[in-house]
Amino acid sequence: MTMKVLIETYGCQMNTADSELIMGILTAAGFEPAHALEEANVIILNTCAVREKAEARILGRLTNLVPLKRLRPDLLIGVVGCMAKHLGEKLVEKVPYVDFVAGPDKYRTLPEIIANKRKKAEIHTEFDRSELYTGCTPKRPSGVTAWVTIQRGCNYVCTYCIVPHVRGGERNVPAADILTEVKRLAEMGFSVVTLLGQTVNSYVDGDINFAKLLRMVANVEGIEQVRFTSPHPLGFSDELIEVIATEPHVAKFVHLPLQSASDSQLVAMRRKYTYEEYETIVHKLREKCPEIAISTDIIVGFCGESEEDYQKTRQAIIDNRFAFAFLFAYSERSLSIAARTMKDDIPSEVKQRRLAEIIDIQQHISKEIYESRIGSRVEVIVEGYSRRNSDQAVGNTRDFKTTIFDRGDCEPGDWVEVEVDSATSQTLVGRQIRIIKKGRAPAVENQIDVGISLGPTEN
Ligand code: SAH
Ligand code: SF4
Ligand code: F3S
Repeated sequence: MTMKVLIETYGCQMNTADSELIMGILTAAGFEPAHALEEANVIILNTCAVREKAEARILGRLTNLVPLKRLRPDLLIGVVGCMAKHLGEKLVEKVPYVDFVAGPDKYRTLPEIIANKRKKAEIHTEFDRSELYTGCTPKRPSGVTAWVTIQRGCNYVCTYCIVPHVRGGERNVPAADILTEVKRLAEMGFSVVTLLGQTVNSYVDGDINFAKLLRMVANVEGIEQVRFTSPHPLGFSDELIEVIATEPHVAKFVHLPLQSASDSQLVAMRRKYTYEEYETIVHKLREKCPEIAISTDIIVGFCGESEEDYQKTRQAIIDNRFAFAFLFAYSERSLSIAARTMKDDIPSEVKQRRLAEIIDIQQHISKEIYESRIGSRVEVIVEGYSRRNSDQAVGNTRDFKTTIFDRGDCEPGDWVEVEVDSATSQTLVGRQIRIIKKGRAPAVENQIDVGISLGPTEN
């Protein structure tokens, strides 16, 4: 009997890409994607550990699966990814019916782990510094957008962060392999690629740095848009700014995590830049590329954050006018340096008050920025159709603003001109004026419209 597998994904894009990798590894070994929870023989939760809430939500989800497991004792439930690595044995103590646990470096062995499954839960969470999943082909959903992992792990040691402790040290995929993969994707019909890594701009392979890699990927025939996430402010070079500004196929969009605008907090976080250095990058980007959109990540309530520190961050949010921002209250994570050596001393009410205030400020700014487009015409690459209303198409502008408009004759992969009629703080809504350029036929061979789903996003 063919085993059917369903993967639920939590956390960041690295995990979304890893779920496609896992589905690729499993289908190559004879598994099939399941169409629904009920028909799955194996349910895999690909998990996140970055904040306590993320883990709590996944534990809640696991509890929800108990009735299904009771009904069908042969159903296998696996937990993989960052929380699997973080909790390991402890996860099986908490949730005894979990059948297997596998960390981010153990996906290659998942077919054997599942096939050899014995009575007792299998736990495989060792790091493997050499694992880059060379030779494993991800199974991507059909369409025009594809994730491409160029780097695994992280060599930074931001004190608040668990990621290096659950994903291990930085490893870079050889540039030749990345280019082969992107060419293959372009031939299949993918025209938008997003290069993924925890600190993409530290990428290096011989004399190919990230700026050079980005330029090479942008010049692969058939690739219309290249996005990347996330760069680190340290080492955000002039060369990279130049590539972003001048390569027509590179998105005019940069997600540049700030975390805090207080230098003493940046030191405590070991971010390795000052606020002034961060601002310099933003200014240069805007000077060289006036159409650039910049977004960020911020943490409030980190150890020792005074009211004055917080006010600096609040002011920076106002001054930088980010297109959008992911804003978080500090959540202490075991294994992190801060958990071991610093005191989580900001009361939860203070963290929440600061967070609510900046969420409100940022929402106003985003709304203003998006609304400022009303009445103008934007170029959008069509990425799909609206799930709620199939008469509407969805795509992104060159500066990564999600845009919804009437579908007309356009198809995924086309560039269209849209006149913006209205906007929210996250979307532009408009009318299609014309198709500027027809795309190639979207990729369908790799079709898995089911089998991988996104868990609820977490804040
Ligand atoms: N490698 C990426 C970040 C990955 S984690 C980078 O450096 O940009 C994504 C975001 O989660 C971080 O940028 C940070 O803002 C937030 N984050 C990480 N650890 C956190 C913690 N312990 N509490 C709250 N937010 C955290
Ligand atoms: Fe975490 Fe810092 Fe690495 Fe990003 S750069 S993953 S925040 S340690
Ligand atoms: Fe991503 Fe969460 Fe892991 S943010 S790297 S899935 S801890």
